[in-house]
Amino acid sequence: MGVQAARVIFPAADRAEIAATADEILSSGILTLGPYTRQFEAAFAAAHSDSGDHAADAPLAVAVSSGTAALEIALRCVGVAGRDVIVPANTFYATAAAALGAGARLVFADIDPATFALSPATLNAALTPQTAAVVLVHIGGLITPDVDELRRICAEHEITLIEDAAHAHGATWAGRFAGSFGSAGAFSFYPTKVVTSGEGGMIVTASPELADEARIYRDQGKGSFTTNHHVRRGYAWRMSELNAVTGLVHLRRMASSIERRREVAARYGDALAGLAGFDALREPAGCRSNFYKYIAVLPPGCDRARFKKELADLHEVRLAGEVYDVPLHQQPALAQFAGPPLPAAEDMCARHVCLPVHSDMTDDEVEQVLAAVTAVYGAMTGA
Ligand SMILES: Cc1ncc(COP(=O)(O)O)c(C=O)c1O
Repeated sequence: MGVQAARVIFPAADRAEIAATADEILSSGILTLGPYTRQFEAAFAAAHSDSGDHAADAPLAVAVSSGTAALEIALRCVGVAGRDVIVPANTFYATAAAALGAGARLVFADIDPATFALSPATLNAALTPQTAAVVLVHIGGLITPDVDELRRICAEHEITLIEDAAHAHGATWAGRFAGSFGSAGAFSFYPTKVVTSGEGGMIVTASPELADEARIYRDQGKGSFTTNHHVRRGYAWRMSELNAVTGLVHLRRMASSIERRREVAARYGDALAGLAGFDALREPAGCRSNFYKYIAVLPPGCDRARFKKELADLHEVRLAGEVYDVPLHQQPALAQFAGPPLPAAEDMCARHVCLPVHSDMTDDEVEQVLAAVTAVYGAMTGA
């Protein structure tokens, strides 16, 4: 048996609960913006509050139709139209698309190879007089330990920090959850994510004003649910009740999924430490990654395509997609925003791989991946 790149896990009991609730939702006729959306919002906020329950310190959460929508709404709420938004070059296209959708111009920034995130130096290098916001992306579920310094730089320049937390459900730095560092955090519930609702997204914020604005934007910019009085340029960014119950049930597995992912990552880290030149991204002190991705960087000159093909062909081990293989400033659709070379992002995009991590991965699968990586890497490099 091979090892798949990713696996979407809904145990039988969860599937049965979702099916029964779907039946109830369909009979009720309340198919969108109803009680399950509100429950999902409350549960997600509680799961991202420092004390871990429905405490007074829980942030506010607004459910929407996708992670891209969550980002665009957050950026619309803080107001970036006609100004610059800084995004790291090594992120998903959606980060940039959301900023463009909110009316901004893109400025691409380089990254710190140790975290795959913006650093104070790369942020400072990208700042323009017209910068309205910075999107910090927690690639692979890792929050950079520079996050407080990045916040300080943003505050100093009166720039809004928004977190793209599409990868970072339940991830923390210094005990603080993703989504609590910027004015808002945008999560994705795309099927491969640590928590999924099928499709969907969530805006997390400590600001009641931003949460109210986000609710207006997600429903066509309407001033209220029942009137056709449009006070903002919103869009059809609602989450359906069927998606909401799917996310609500899946969210209960978040803590145990992250535990298993962390066990797998720890085993990979121990076993691969001895493989010369195979450079796994390390979790800095104080960081608790959710290991949405397990990232390792191959040495210069090591042929990634061949490495992946031999793992698949000779060992039936399929690697997950990179995060990301082509930086945004080299994407044809975004060519007009390409500025100077961004060497660290270009280098990391070209050289890293993502080993399989599933929330129900067996020990045998982990050992199979390790044996395959050791054999293929050893044959290719002599390590
Ligand atoms: C870094 C990042 N940002 C944004 C998104 C957009 O999320 P969605 O696919 O839910 O729109 C994704 C999703 O894949 C992502 O990985």
